[in-house]
Amino acid sequence: MNYFRTKSIESIRAQANEGGTNLKKTLGRLNLINLGIGGIIGAGIFSITGTAAATHAGPAIVIAFLISAFACALAGLCYAEMAAMLPLAGSAYTYAYATMGELIAWVIGWDLILEYLFSSSTVAVAWSGYFVSTLKEFGWHFPIEYASAWGQKMILVPNEGWKTLTKDLVNQFEKSSIDYLGFQQTTGIINVPAMALIFVLTLILIKGIKESTVFNNIMVVFKVLVIVMFIVIGIQYVDADNWMPFIPEPKLIQKESSHVMEFGWVGIFRAAGVIFFAYIGFDSVSTAAQEAKNPQKDMAAGILISLGICTLLYVLFSLIMTGVVHYSELNNAAPAAYVVDHMGTGLSWFRKFIKVAALAGLSSATLTMLYSQPRIFLSMSKDGLLPKVFGNVHPKFGTPIFGTILTGVCAALIAGVFSIDVLGELVSIGTLLAFIIVCGGVLYLRYSNPTADRPFKVPGIWVVSILGILACLAQMIFLDPLTWARLFAWLGIGLVIYFIYGRKRSKLNQ
Ligand code: ALA
Repeated sequence: MNYFRTKSIESIRAQANEGGTNLKKTLGRLNLINLGIGGIIGAGIFSITGTAAATHAGPAIVIAFLISAFACALAGLCYAEMAAMLPLAGSAYTYAYATMGELIAWVIGWDLILEYLFSSSTVAVAWSGYFVSTLKEFGWHFPIEYASAWGQKMILVPNEGWKTLTKDLVNQFEKSSIDYLGFQQTTGIINVPAMALIFVLTLILIKGIKESTVFNNIMVVFKVLVIVMFIVIGIQYVDADNWMPFIPEPKLIQKESSHVMEFGWVGIFRAAGVIFFAYIGFDSVSTAAQEAKNPQKDMAAGILISLGICTLLYVLFSLIMTGVVHYSELNNAAPAAYVVDHMGTGLSWFRKFIKVAALAGLSSATLTMLYSQPRIFLSMSKDGLLPKVFGNVHPKFGTPIFGTILTGVCAALIAGVFSIDVLGELVSIGTLLAFIIVCGGVLYLRYSNPTADRPFKVPGIWVVSILGILACLAQMIFLDPLTWARLFAWLGIGLVIYFIYGRKRSKLNQ
């Protein structure tokens, strides 16, 4: 049994050309760029940036955004070459099948579940946080037990609202001699808004790619508009003193029971690892390859243009955020709304607007991730590694019906019971692993199949590929050892399934 048998480029292209999936080819270049932006802008910018600035990098969060963008651009270039050359919906899974063989392809396909399925849950949980806070703006109080993870300890901090009661927070209270034991506390039961969002989005995704695209396009226009407004309005309230020093002095900070170095360059790299999450999603364009009208031409544009636009927006957004208020104040779940509050009176309409826009942004990021996962399943099923039912496409709607429903149910259950921190790091490590495989695969194919038609070619392939691998590895190393353990456990489960099921049923056996 050859675990490293590969699918030839020719057979992958033939599969892409002959169709055989009933997926509808409706997406033009603009839709693909919007799909990329839809996937990218989400919890990263609306929720995580503030904490990363406050606890890791200070105003130099801007540098962290640039470092992370650099790593993503390297991977993005590699994705662009692969997606244009092998326009099948399987993304990194398909590329690994063409280069490193079936076993690695399976491992990456399984790993992509961490990226797409788990990130849809992660973003839905962030959406739930904004939802509860938006309702409060209009005077409605959603019971927090039903908008939190199972067993999550919550505390009502005066003037700040509900927060997760972590050890770090307890340390902070104790350091500032705050008598937090008197504050109202509760324990989470289930995250109903996050589950409801996934339910609604799954229905839209079942209904059709056209409907999903229209929804996504509207949400993308809305969220980009509000980010631009934030930048344009915010620039007038910037106090340049807040940027001084731009890179705060490194210092030892107590975290849980140990001390870690934060700020300075160490803090910047730590922040880059955390906000990497904000860039995840550009690669989901590659899962739309079989629904693109002209994948050879438009895949690269979709990936690279969406990444470029979001990098620019992120850098400006974080400059304004850290310019309007001091970075130390940004450690909260809705930092953009907090910043607007400090732009002076008369802008409370804008704070509400930001929250609604964040809801739009987060819902389209969730949608994109929920969209991508069933397409990976579909490709794996066409290769025989997953049951045939994953390849079923609804005759009328033209969408992978079983995969979409299964993804929705699993994502909703995960979003219902887990908290955002556990999920977020797991998503990042899974995605970084996929990026490494794609960066390595593109270089390998240049040598194993130098004559293949490449509609888009990465310039300076050696530099881009190797730097891409190193940049992703560097970000993985900074992640928690527990996250590594979870990754290995997940991949272990995947291997068991492969040996019990996929190995024998692979189409390459026939
Ligand atoms: N990049 C996406 C987000 O920030 C996953 O929500």
